[in-house]
Amino acid sequence: MKRVGFIGWRGMVGSVLMERMTDENDFGRMESFFFSTSQSGDSAPKVKNAFEKLLPAMELKELSKMDILVSCQGGEYTSEIFPQLRAQGWSGVWIDAASTLRMKDDSVIVLDPVNRNLIQESMARGVKNFVGGNCTVSLLLIALHGLFKENLVEWVSSMTYQAASGAGAKNMIELLDQMKSVGTTFAANPAASALELEKKMTTLMSSSEFPKTNFGHPLALNVLPWIDSEMPSGQSKEEWKAQVEANKILQTKTTVPIDGTCVRVGALRCHSQGLTIKLKKSAHLSTLEELLGNANPWVKLVANTKAETLKELTPAAVSGKLSVPIGRLRQMTLGDTYFNAFTLGDQLLWGAAEPLRCVLLQTLA
Ligand code: HSE
Repeated sequence: MKRVGFIGWRGMVGSVLMERMTDENDFGRMESFFFSTSQSGDSAPKVKNAFEKLLPAMELKELSKMDILVSCQGGEYTSEIFPQLRAQGWSGVWIDAASTLRMKDDSVIVLDPVNRNLIQESMARGVKNFVGGNCTVSLLLIALHGLFKENLVEWVSSMTYQAASGAGAKNMIELLDQMKSVGTTFAANPAASALELEKKMTTLMSSSEFPKTNFGHPLALNVLPWIDSEMPSGQSKEEWKAQVEANKILQTKTTVPIDGTCVRVGALRCHSQGLTIKLKKSAHLSTLEELLGNANPWVKLVANTKAETLKELTPAAVSGKLSVPIGRLRQMTLGDTYFNAFTLGDQLLWGAAEPLRCVLLQTLA
C-alpha cells in the first residue's frame, strides 16, 4: 500500500477532506501518516491504517519517506518545503490545495469531473505535482462543463458572490460575530422603527467595537467588492485567476476570456456566480439545458422558475452538498448568442477538498 502523508489536515479544507475520506472509506486503501508543524509525537487521528503518532511537518527526512504528500497547510508551507523536497531528490506525488504551484508548467490543476483525461494522461507522462484550482473557478467549470465540452463558449463574464469561508475559518467566525453584534443592538432597541434601526446599525458598523480584525471591514449587512491582492490590470487577484486557471484546466488552444467582479458576501460556505455567457453561435435554450444538465454527475439544472430557483439555487439549499446547481438560464435581450445563468456550489467540497480527494485516489490506482 502507498504511504500517504497529510499536512494541514486540521484546517478547514483539511477537515472537510478528512470527513469525505472517512465517509467514503478511502483510508482502507492507503497507509496514512499525519504531520504537524507544532505537535509531532502526539496521537494521530484514529483512521484505518494510520500511523499512531503525529510526525514533524518541517522535517524533510520524514516527509521524503512518503510516496504521496497531500498539503492543505497553505501557500507559505508549500513555498518553503516543496522546493527543498524536490531539490533533495524526493520524487513522490505532491497534491496541494494552495495556489502557489498552480500556474507552474510542471503542475496540473485538477478538477476530476472536467479534466480527468488530462490528469490520467499527465500521470502516465510522469507529472508529479497536482494542485486544486481556485474554488470559484472549479465551481464555474463544473457548472459550465457541457458548453465547454462542445466548444460553444466565446467568453464568460462572471459576477461572484463569495462566502466568508473562502477567506478562512477566522473570517467565518468574524462574520458570525458581526451578526451577533447586529443582533444585540437590535434586541436592545425593541421599539425602534426600521429607519431608526438602520441608523443605529450604520453607526455600529463604523464603530471601533464592531469586530472586523480579519476582514478589516463589515461583511454583515454589507458586501465587499474586492477579494485577494491588487493586480496591475486593475483586477483583483481572484478575478485574474478565473481566466488563467480555467484555460489551464481546460487546456484550451485559444484562450476563452473569463472576467468579472468578485464580491465577498455574508454567505458561510457557498460561492455563487451570476453569469453572462457569450456563445460562438446561437443555440436553442433546450439544447443548452440538455448539454449543461448532462455534462457530469455533479451539475444539476434548476428550472428557470421563481419557485424552483428560490428553493434550489441558494447557499442555504446547497451548503454541505456535492451538487453544483445552475439555473436562471435564459437568452438575454442583448442578442441571440447571449445567455444568462446563475450557479453556485459548496466552496469547501468541489471548491477545495473533493478535487484533491479524487486525484489522491487516482494516484493509488
Ligand atoms: N480565494 C477564494 C476566496 C477561496 O477568497 O473565496 C479559495 O479558492
